[in-house]
Amino acid sequence: NGKYTVTLIPGDGIGPEISQSVKDIYSAAGAPIQWEEVDVTPILKNGKTAIPDAAIASVRKNTVALKGPLATPIGKGHVSLNLTLRRTFNLFANVRPCASIQGYKTPYDNVDTVLIRENTEGEYSGIEHEIVDGVVQSIKLITWDASERVAKYAFHYAQANGRKRVTAVHKANIMKMSDGMFLSACRQVAKDFPGIQYDEDLLDRACLQITQNPAPYADRVMVMPNLYGDILSDMCAGLIGGLGLTPSGNIGRDASIFEAVHGSAPDIAGKGLANPTALLLSSLMMLRHMNLNEYADRIEKATLGTIAEGKTITGDLGGKASTKEYTDAIVKRLSKV
Ligand code: IPM
Ligand code: MN
Repeated sequence: NGKYTVTLIPGDGIGPEISQSVKDIYSAAGAPIQWEEVDVTPILKNGKTAIPDAAIASVRKNTVALKGPLATPIGKGHVSLNLTLRRTFNLFANVRPCASIQGYKTPYDNVDTVLIRENTEGEYSGIEHEIVDGVVQSIKLITWDASERVAKYAFHYAQANGRKRVTAVHKANIMKMSDGMFLSACRQVAKDFPGIQYDEDLLDRACLQITQNPAPYADRVMVMPNLYGDILSDMCAGLIGGLGLTPSGNIGRDASIFEAVHGSAPDIAGKGLANPTALLLSSLMMLRHMNLNEYADRIEKATLGTIAEGKTITGDLGGKASTKEYTDAIVKRLSKV
């Protein structure tokens, strides 16, 4: 039928509502996407919490997925299923663009950066032990191969997207060996990209500088180890209005999963109040990944136009609209763009 089949993982809490919104907008836009919706209610497999096999098989088959939030237990309990997906498909680069949304007012109007987060190791390796009572060791695992792989991805991304500079973000003043090696890998890759400038920034300094003045960070790509990317991407999201507005894509060789980074928001789940923008913008990264740029551009214009007009926006953005009203406003605007 000329359509591309994509796995849809609606997720927990507000996941189903925001997924519905994306589906509605896609059918209105005539986007050639056939959603293969899978259930990810966790199952027990060999005593461990796991994702149902059918969901994994669907992603493996379609190689592209859109995903809502999956609730993650804090402090104890099972490994976050968000991480399980990243691990299962070896999604090594987590791409998190962060750009001011014209018409949505925050103290900043000039944020335009892209974070690329190593997505398979670091503190996220999940290697932790209690050595003796009261002493716990968590291992930050850094490998040359994963560092080089994400660095290459960052430079290719910069090249393909017209960004002039790659900045490696690190704490090699403290983590001399692990971050030191990460930097060595970045420096080596940089040599293969003479057209792209390369520099390095300490993570704490980067936080200070971006919040004081994001302008110098525009037009560049920042690449960094896993945990730094987790934290810095939330901080950058804060500059443009929060996690309800920022997209992300987990890129691998065999599959890619595009996901909203915000939580499942159980407090508002089922009430029709959630903001679907982050999932929608993530889906546009997905469309561009599939070379369906025209559809992405059109849906993006309608979305940003609706936000800029400011009349039919959700509560988190200071409006009064329900998820459905906001979705309808975007659909209506599609005919004007
Ligand atoms: C993110 C999230 C996840 C992470 C959680 C839900 C496991 O915060 O995608 O940034 O820490 O990576
Ligand atoms: Mn996070």
